[in-house]
Parts: sequence; C-alpha cells; structure tokens
Amino acid sequence: MTKQEPNTEQKKDPVILVVDDTEDNLDLLEFALKRKPVEMIRANSGMECLSLASERQPDVILLDIQMPEMDGFETLRRLRDNPATAKIPVIFLTAQRKEPESIEKGLLMGVDEYLTKPIDTDELLVRTKTLVRMKRMEAELERTKADFMAMLVHDLRSPLAGIKDVIEFFRELEKTGGDLTPDHFNLLAASQESAERMLQLINNLLDLSKFEAGSITLNKEPLSVRNIVGKAAKQMEFQFRQRNITVRTDVAENLPEVTADASKISQVLMNLLSNALKFSGTGGTVTIAATAAHEPDGAGRQEVVAIAVSDTGMGIPQEEIPGIFQRYKQASTARRVRQKGTGLGLAICKLIVEAHGGRIGVTSEPGKTTFRFTLPLTSQ
Ligand SMILES: Nc1ncnc2c1ncn2[C@@H]1O[C@H](COP(=O)(O)OP(=O)(O)OP(=O)(O)O)[C@@H](O)[C@H]1O
Ligand SMILES: [Mg+2]
Repeated sequence: MTKQEPNTEQKKDPVILVVDDTEDNLDLLEFALKRKPVEMIRANSGMECLSLASERQPDVILLDIQMPEMDGFETLRRLRDNPATAKIPVIFLTAQRKEPESIEKGLLMGVDEYLTKPIDTDELLVRTKTLVRMKRMEAELERTKADFMAMLVHDLRSPLAGIKDVIEFFRELEKTGGDLTPDHFNLLAASQESAERMLQLINNLLDLSKFEAGSITLNKEPLSVRNIVGKAAKQMEFQFRQRNITVRTDVAENLPEVTADASKISQVLMNLLSNALKFSGTGGTVTIAATAAHEPDGAGRQEVVAIAVSDTGMGIPQEEIPGIFQRYKQASTARRVRQKGTGLGLAICKLIVEAHGGRIGVTSEPGKTTFRFTLPLTSQ
C-alpha cells in the first residue's frame, strides 16, 4: 500500500509502464512522450512487465497483446492474480482497429481500456488521466468506507452496551426487590433515546442501500408543500424551543401542488431541520421558505417548487461543501457539536430529491447556511 502513495499525490505526473517486444515501438513512443506530462517506463516482455509493475507501481500499464513467450493476455492474467499489481489499470494495445475477439477476451479479463496502433499520444494521455482519476476516486471511496465501518461499529456498539447494562441493572433490582426511584426512570429514558438513535441509524442505512440498489418505490401523490412544511416544523417545534431557536415558515401564497412521495419529502425536511438544529448552537432563527421557480431541464425549463431551509448557525467552510452530500462524509463542523452523526442525512436527501427529478444544493457562510431543494410540479 505504502508503495502506491507517491502516485496518488495530485501534482505528480502519472507513470505509464509501456510493454512491447519491439524496441522501435518503445523508442518511438518515448520520443513522442518526451515533452508530455507523463513519465514512461519501458518493458520488453511480459515477464519484465510483471516485475517492474510490482516494483514501481505505475499508474497505468500500456500492454501490447502480441508478444512472444508471454502474450498480453497471459501477462494481464498474472498481473491480476498478484495482489500487488491487481488494481493497476491496464490499457490493451491492439494491432488493428477491429479485433473484436481480443477486445471481448480482454474485457472479460478485466482490461480497462483499448488503444490501437499507431498510438495517438494525445488519446493515450487522456485515457491515462481518466484512469488515474478513477483509481484515486476508488481509493478515496475505500478509505471513506473503512472509516465509516469503524464509526458505525462504534456507534452501534456503545449505545447497545449501555442498554445492556441498564437491563442487567433492572434484573438485579428485580432479584433484590428494591424500589424504583426517579433516577431509575431517567436511566430508562436514556436507554430509550439510545435505542431510538440506533434504530434511526439502521433505518438510514437501509434507505441508502435500497436507493442504491434502485429498489425504492416512490408513492407519488399530489402534495401541498404548505402542509408538509407545517407538519415538519411542528414535529421539531419542541426541540427548537428547548434550544431557544425561533422557527419561521414562509410559504408563498398560491403555491402549486407537487406530485411527490409525502413521507420521503418529509424525511428530507426532517434531515435538513435536524442539521439546522444540530449546527445552530442556542438562539438564532431557522427559516423554511417555499416559492415557485423555474429551472433548466434538459432541453427547456421546468416549473418547480423550491424549498429552502436556512439557519443562523456556524456555517460550513467553502472547501468542504462539495463533499457533504456524499454518503458517510462529514464536514469539520461535525466535530464542533456534541450530538454525533454518521454523515448519511444529506446523502439520503440528495437521493430522494433526485429520485423526484429535483436538485439540492447549499450556500453557506458563518451565521447563514441555506439548503435549497427543488421539486418539479409534474411527475416523471
Ligand atoms: N446546517 C448546517 N450547518 C453546518 N454544517 C452542516 C449543516 N448541515 C450539514 N452540515 C455538515 O455536513 C455534514 C453532513 O451532513 P449529514 O446530515 O449528511 O450528516 P450528519 O448530520 O453528520 O449525520 P446524520 O445526518 O447521518 O446523523 C455534517 O456532518 C456537517 O459537518
Ligand atoms: Mg444530518
């Protein structure tokens, strides 16, 4: 793993390992790439490719198919079999434009791209860049997933351990025949809260995986945005009041109805409101506004209802905004509040809004954060 790190840095030129049994081809390519932003390593045979690949960890391997002794297919198979080289993207180099059988065979073996001879260096560079970017994104996703798993295990384990202790405590009390005191009821209330948090977390995870598997069905019906906003505000009223936060709703008169899944849209509102609450500290104002608007839609423009949830809390640093709609991602603001989250809320919001054909975005500065999402009037 450590060997790969230098190549995952943003600024370094990508390293291409070019494998061809004809020296002239390697010379030609080396010359063509001389002034380009890449580093080329040469290999004369499949065997040499295998050792250089594991030693140098290139970003991409450009592999000729026809080679004596070990051909491109065999080399690819061995690259994939070795954990040290299994993940290095491979571009196959075919002799003519039409070699459907080789292409199919290569694809089945997990080749990433094709190029035909003579090599167009610009094309090679574009393909290389794309593969490098994809590899980096995959590595990043793997890391986030691993972090998330660690967090998830912790988030489920500690409340469950707490609940188990409370149960054991009451079983003991039952044996000794002790009386129930207000403290005991507080313990029960805390356990209930823990159990609810765990349930919420598990429900979020299930929602997310259902959405990702494409198996979620929306129960769309004509919906009054005024009603749904009112209900969500009411549901959170108590929690906001406890933190001395004023909630304002500002729904435009004569707002048209939207065709949407009521429970899913209230889930979006609740997620946004719970973030507004969590990141507001005490005092301030949370506003839920709804207006009619238009937004680009493929060829033309479509009528939408735009719903915005604003808070007067700490805000989100600009550079962290692009990541916050990704699952498991939390911004640095998450570390500044006591209540822990898992970074799933906004990912779920985005999936729900987009499943309705709408969009979601955010603008933020300290003291003012606005999440805005749209819902098209007409069902898709
Ligand atoms: N209103 C807000 N003000 C400041 N930061 C916010 C706000 N809303 C979201 N964020 C930032 O975006 C991150 C992602 O939000 P998201 O709702 O996905 O996760 P979460 O609230 O941390 O966890 P979960 O919603 O799963 O309980 C948060 O961790 C926080 O850093
Ligand atoms: Mg949240």
